[in-house]
Amino acid sequence: MSTEEPVGSLQRSGPYTFEWTKLHLPRWKTDPLRHEYDTLAAKALARLQALAKAKGFSDDPRKRPDLYQLLAENHASHDELEQFWAQLHAVPDWVDWAQLERGQRFFYRHAAANLMGFALQGFVGENSAASGVVEVLVRTGGFSTRVLLHRLLETFQWLLQVTESLQAIQPGGSGHISTVRIRLLHSSVRQRLLKMVESRPEYFDVETYGVPVNTLDSIHSIATFCCNHMWLQLPRMGVNPTEQEKEDYIALFRYIGYLLATPDEYFSNVGQAKATMESMLVHELKVTKTSRIVCFNFIKSLVDLPPFNVSKEFIEAGSRVLNGDELCDELEMGRPGWVPYACFRGHCWLVSALAIAQRLSPAFDQWIIEHWKRLLHSAVIQSGLKGASKFDFKYVPREGIQVGKEGNGRQGVKYGLFSRPVEIFYFAIFLLGLSLAPLACLVAAMGLRTITPYTAQWISKRVGS
Ligand code: HEM
Repeated sequence: MSTEEPVGSLQRSGPYTFEWTKLHLPRWKTDPLRHEYDTLAAKALARLQALAKAKGFSDDPRKRPDLYQLLAENHASHDELEQFWAQLHAVPDWVDWAQLERGQRFFYRHAAANLMGFALQGFVGENSAASGVVEVLVRTGGFSTRVLLHRLLETFQWLLQVTESLQAIQPGGSGHISTVRIRLLHSSVRQRLLKMVESRPEYFDVETYGVPVNTLDSIHSIATFCCNHMWLQLPRMGVNPTEQEKEDYIALFRYIGYLLATPDEYFSNVGQAKATMESMLVHELKVTKTSRIVCFNFIKSLVDLPPFNVSKEFIEAGSRVLNGDELCDELEMGRPGWVPYACFRGHCWLVSALAIAQRLSPAFDQWIIEHWKRLLHSAVIQSGLKGASKFDFKYVPREGIQVGKEGNGRQGVKYGLFSRPVEIFYFAIFLLGLSLAPLACLVAAMGLRTITPYTAQWISKRVGS
């Protein structure tokens, strides 16, 4: 049996260290949450399925019901649906809309750093090593390289919708509706897996991993979505979110967590949210064979993807910087040479320089936020997905479906100066940074030379007096 971490002990997860405090969650508190889940949505789903069947819908992709639509039209006439609808539309008294709106802006303010962190730390490191979560993911087939990119785009669509505007996240807005769809999708995943476990208990190890998409996994996922940027990702790229930014973004995800039936008390303030994230690092990360498959396929689905054609080595270098070598070795990731690291350093220098400039100029900050919002919405939703997805249950678990390591079917990129534009750009920033470094040292040295005599005079006056 695992022992509890003593209060005051120093804990480490990759390159990140912290002290275990009373705010951290002991195992006796978190372990039972593996066997708890969203019963409200489960009951509502069962009722919606019965309604859908009565209306002639089926599992056939052409005849699948739009569960949200059914819910919106029928909630008033069925108790289970009405309770679900009421919970989704009640706004908790701790919700401060102005704060949530500021939280939404944080995502776009540091979009380049947030997206890089989300992909390389959130997905590659944290998600792959969340042993219970990956067991669910590989069973839905959605982690096959054939569909992974589409699923990633859908995840980004949802993220863009919940950060688009205040109206979008308020009841009835596009982000609110998408979140309800995701909650029903999670319930469908759980229901399908549990049905298979009934006839074949060995299909999914409920004893070890808990109920699929359980409360603890959801707390872990919300922490990954909102806390990891603040402590595990951005600071390692040279960007330090302010206390206000932390409060606002975590508050936004506390509300999103509420909509997804994730107990919100774990995110009630910055200190508690940080301790929740750190508790998950200690308790929940364990690399398994399935982690390696998920990590491998995730990287494969991004490598050489047009138009940016990012290389495997760049992804590996970034992942190693953010997650540490220990975890990346366990995930059997390659060890790239110095050039990919230099490119990643270029990325870090760029995002940290931008963050400083944005703090100095609110107008520039506003421009960056608007620019990223427009760019991402058109790239992900309009071009990538060719219109917003409704998140229906596509990769239905079936006996025998379990994803293994896969290729990406791409030819690979022919070597050429501009064949990898992102890396070339970041490498140029790296070289520029290197060439500016001596200049910065010179300016600092001249500055020191100028102020030293005055400082010496000031000190001698003080000492003399
Ligand atoms: C509570 C925070 C969570 C958020 C915000 C979230 C978000 C999403 C989103 C946006 C999608 C749709 C895009 C896609 O297909 O990937 C999705 C689907 C999915 N999620 Fe989650 N998720 C959360 C927690 C979890 C957890 C804890 C699990 C499993 C342990 C999970 C398993 C899945 C699965 C299997 C699908 C895909 C279903 C399909 O194949 O269509 N999610 N989630």
